[in-house]
Amino acid sequence: MAVSVIAKAITASLLVTTGLTLPHDSLRGESIRHRDSQDLVQPVYQSLPLGAIKPRGWFKDQLQLEAAGLAGNLYDFYRFVHDSMWIGGSTEYSVLHESSPYWFNGVVSLAFGLDDTRLQGQVYDYMDYVLDHQQDDGWLGPETTPESRGLWARCYFLLGLMQYAQADPSQEERIVDSMHKYIQLAHSMLKDNFTGLIQKEGQDFDGDGFGAMRAHEMHIPLQWLYEKHPRNNSQIIWETMELMIEGGAQANSDWRKYWVKGVYPEVTYTPRDQPYDELFNHGVNMAEGLRYPLAIYRMTHDEALRTQTRTAVDLLAQYHKSLAGTIIGDEFVTDLNPIRGAELCTAAEMTFSMAYIYQYLGDNDLADWAEQVAFNAVPGSIFPDWWSHQYVQQENQPWSRNLTESPGMWVNVGSQGNVFGLEPNYPCCTVNHPQAYPKFLANAFTLTEDGGIAHVHLIPGSVTTSLGNNKVTIQADTNYPFGMNLQYTINSDSDFTFYVRIPGWADQSSTINVGGKTSQISPSDKGLQKVELGKGSSSVSVTLETEPRVVTRANNTAAVYYGPLLYSLYIDSKVSEVTPIAFDGSAMPLSSTTGHTHDHVIEPTSIWNVAIDTSQIKMVHADASTLSNPIWDLGAPPVELRVAAVEIDWPLEYDTAADPPLEPKITGKPFSARFVPFGSAKIHMAHLPVVELAKVDLET
Ligand SMILES: *[C@@H]1O[C@H](CO)[C@@H](O)[C@H](O)[C@H]1NC(C)=O
Ligand SMILES: *[C@@H]1O[C@H](CO)[C@@H](O)[C@H](O)[C@H]1NC(C)=O
Ligand SMILES: *[C@@H]1O[C@H](CO)[C@@H](O)[C@H](O)[C@H]1NC(C)=O
Ligand SMILES: *[C@@H]1O[C@H](CO)[C@@H](O)[C@H](O)[C@H]1NC(C)=O
Repeated sequence: MAVSVIAKAITASLLVTTGLTLPHDSLRGESIRHRDSQDLVQPVYQSLPLGAIKPRGWFKDQLQLEAAGLAGNLYDFYRFVHDSMWIGGSTEYSVLHESSPYWFNGVVSLAFGLDDTRLQGQVYDYMDYVLDHQQDDGWLGPETTPESRGLWARCYFLLGLMQYAQADPSQEERIVDSMHKYIQLAHSMLKDNFTGLIQKEGQDFDGDGFGAMRAHEMHIPLQWLYEKHPRNNSQIIWETMELMIEGGAQANSDWRKYWVKGVYPEVTYTPRDQPYDELFNHGVNMAEGLRYPLAIYRMTHDEALRTQTRTAVDLLAQYHKSLAGTIIGDEFVTDLNPIRGAELCTAAEMTFSMAYIYQYLGDNDLADWAEQVAFNAVPGSIFPDWWSHQYVQQENQPWSRNLTESPGMWVNVGSQGNVFGLEPNYPCCTVNHPQAYPKFLANAFTLTEDGGIAHVHLIPGSVTTSLGNNKVTIQADTNYPFGMNLQYTINSDSDFTFYVRIPGWADQSSTINVGGKTSQISPSDKGLQKVELGKGSSSVSVTLETEPRVVTRANNTAAVYYGPLLYSLYIDSKVSEVTPIAFDGSAMPLSSTTGHTHDHVIEPTSIWNVAIDTSQIKMVHADASTLSNPIWDLGAPPVELRVAAVEIDWPLEYDTAADPPLEPKITGKPFSARFVPFGSAKIHMAHLPVVELAKVDLET
């Protein structure tokens, strides 16, 4: 997430001297116009407080694996968390000091989403230390000098605090006290020529300018504070948010100037020689920057910013979205090129961004996109037991190992980037991946404008909440996305309106059953199926119907989906455990490992080099009454496809599969190939050349 120290190719000076020139001069001194009444725009769909939504079924299993895996153990052994300066230690991976705040933000949502008392103890101890050591001037964190104090890492600490206060009211007052004290200081620093946001000569907290690029990340916790606990500080909170944006603009980091057609880097599927090496084009920044226009929109009520958010997601979708739903960028956006890869942090941030943006825009495709990332890109980069992860995921990735010829391919990623490990490259993904699934859960149900509740991310889970005096409990049982049936058991004290989100790919022949009566679905243009329920106990079920979908890309290539799942060729493999290597290529300090931490090398033992005939695809469902756990493991999901395929010559480049061959040379006989969910296949081929083949028996 930060510019890697391994690949020193991109230096701070290079970053500011290359890339696009933006019309930022016009922004100097620009601030957010005050409105007469400083109220914040409300989302179309309100999220519920952390803890109101509980996981069930397969999703709960995976969160438990996450808690038992890396995420839930980093606090006990991992040097950048266990020995973080934030809690009296001395080990940080960069001057940003962001590692333990990232961990805190993700593990707070995991601990309270899962009701895991062990993890609640970890985040309590961490928070207790940091709040206890808040400095007299209000500073939160270990830095004591102006030269070392950057605001950025505090954005994620505050985001964690906000969630903590929602989930555990016993800590609310202490958290709010501390946030107010901090805001007074942050406000005075920002007033003083943006101290802490823009690094000045002689300072060393953020040489690359990541904090300014992410200035809006302070807005979610501050807007919460402003609405729920303003005390007498409304004006200071408001101005702090304005100053963050103003300072960011002054540091040439105004995303309003970037999410513009003609400015946003457009590439078609053509390999580029040069990366877009400017911080706007950094995959993780871009995933976070999607939330920027809304951060300001909430304050200014300027509809153009809401519209610009739609423009932003459309531009991203058209030019840089991976088949698995994340942003192709290594670490800077490159192309729609299946070998370049996408950073796991980007997928984690995209999961949250799409959930958040959906709540303001209400467009159905955005929730589909959130599911696409959560069911494909995220699990595709995490080992089934949640103990190791990749730094970058390639859509076409025939093996996971040190790519000894990778220099030249990846812009700012080390040769170990696609290894499943403890910190196979930059450690940000080790500490920032934990947020993806718990935040996906926390946004799985939302309140609707008419006082109802919608099931948005169709994972199994339950919600208990009060709508005014009406206590409502909804339990969703489903194997989705491995099955297409959703069963709801609902209890309410009075009548209320329930909604099920119908994914954009679902056929009109999908059905809903309410109280024993089945009918065809009839969703609104926003994709919500409305169900009016009387008080007492109700039961509702939805069965989604769909067919395999082929998405074509340039030069006669394609990918195959069924429902929200991307499919990839099943490749047999040999997995070896090797000793973890530290991100800078040195030996991993033993104290920063446990008996569970291994790096994994995966080599294929069956063919990976195929072309497919997309006119011959068949769905295969196994009995899915109980799902395997872990589910994101090769062969575990009960859904597969059979696709007519043929072996082809597929050249190598940079020690990995080259781009899909333009004129595939067929070397074998057509056969029925097994295709499995991408998230379950740690090595995979998903972006394939299309050929016409003789009829293949797909029953075999
Ligand atoms: C404010 O900071 C900028 C660098 O960010 C510097 O060029 C400028 O001189 C500073 N202004 C004052 C008044 O200190
Ligand atoms: C707000 O300020 C008033 C007057 O200074 C004071 O009496 C009151 O306690 C303050 N309220 C809060 C919540 O701090
Ligand atoms: C796709 O084909 C065009 C020519 O039609 C070519 O310029 C481009 O490089 C090709 N892209 C890839 C990825 O091979
Ligand atoms: C990985 O490959 C690079 C060459 O790209 C080499 O310098 C490095 O030593 C290799 N690392 C390991 C652990 O084999």
